[in-house]
Amino acid sequence: MGVIRKAVFPVGGLGTRFLPATKAIPKEMLPVVDKPLMQYAVEEAYAAGIREMIFVTGRNKRAIEDHFDTAYELEAELEAAGKQALLDVVNAIKPDDMDCFYVRQPRALGLGHAVLCAEKLVGEEPFAVLLADDLMVGLEAQGGPSVLTQMVQAYEASPGTVLAVQDVPRADTRRYGVVDVRGVNQAMAEVFAMVEKPHPDQAPSTLAVAGRYILSPSVFERIRHQPRGAGGEIQLTDGIAALIGSEKVYAMRYQGRRYDCGSKEGFLQATIDMALANAELGPAVRQHIQTLGL
Ligand code: G1P
Repeated sequence: MGVIRKAVFPVGGLGTRFLPATKAIPKEMLPVVDKPLMQYAVEEAYAAGIREMIFVTGRNKRAIEDHFDTAYELEAELEAAGKQALLDVVNAIKPDDMDCFYVRQPRALGLGHAVLCAEKLVGEEPFAVLLADDLMVGLEAQGGPSVLTQMVQAYEASPGTVLAVQDVPRADTRRYGVVDVRGVNQAMAEVFAMVEKPHPDQAPSTLAVAGRYILSPSVFERIRHQPRGAGGEIQLTDGIAALIGSEKVYAMRYQGRRYDCGSKEGFLQATIDMALANAELGPAVRQHIQTLGL
C-alpha cells in the first residue's frame, strides 16, 4: 500500500461541451480508442499505489458505477463462448484489491465543493484528486512512472500539497489555476500564490495546474469557509491558496503530456495519438493518415 491510499474523482459535471454525445452518458465514459476517460484516470491512480477510489458523482452518472461493477451476463456470455481474452479485459477494469466508493454532489457548485463532498470518505489523510477530463500520459511507454506516480514520489521526498503544473501560453491562463513560484524554475518549486482562471494581464505566471493534485486534508476546512470564487463557483484553487503560509504547497512540473479531453480538440488529439501508439491499430491508422496527403 502506498503512502497515498485514496483518490477522489470529481465526475459530477454535465459535459455540455460534448452534447449531443453526453445527453445520456457521462462525459467521463467517452472512449479514447476503446477505453473510457474514467478508466484511464483510475488506472493512473492504481499504478500510483492507490486502492481506494472515491467518485463524486451526480445525476446521470450511473454508467460509471456500472463500469466498475461486475457485469454478470456479459461475463457469463464471454465465458460460455470461450472468449478468455475479452473476459480478461473486462475483469481487469476493477482489480480485486481495488475498492470503489460513491458519493453524490447534490448540486454542481464547483470543483472545490465536489472535493468537499468526499471529506467523510477521505478522513484525516493526504489524498489525490484526478480530473478525468485531463488525460495524462506520463513516461509509461518508456517504462517510467505515470504522472500521478511522479507526484507520489515527489510527495514522499517533500510531504505537502503537490500540484502538477505545466507552462501554457499566456493567452490561456483564464482556463486554469495558475501558480506563482517566484521565478523558481525547478522541477519542484514552492508555491507562494495561486489564482483561478486569471486574465492573462493579471496572471502571476504562465505555470498552470493540470488536473492532478495531492492534497492535505486541511484543505476541506478551508473550502468549507471560503466565499465563492471565479465564475461564482466554490473553487478548489481557493482552498489550496488558503493553505499557503501555514502548510507547504509545491508545484511539480510533470514529465509527460496532458490532453485536455474536456475540449473537442484535445479529445481528438488524444484519440489520434493513442490510436497511433496502439500496437494493434497503429500501423493501419498511420497508413490511413498517410493516404490523406496532408
Ligand atoms: C479545473 C481547475 C483548474 C485547473 C483545471 C485543469 O478547471 O479549476 O484550476 O487548472 O481544472 O484542467 P476546469 O477545467 O474544471 O474549468
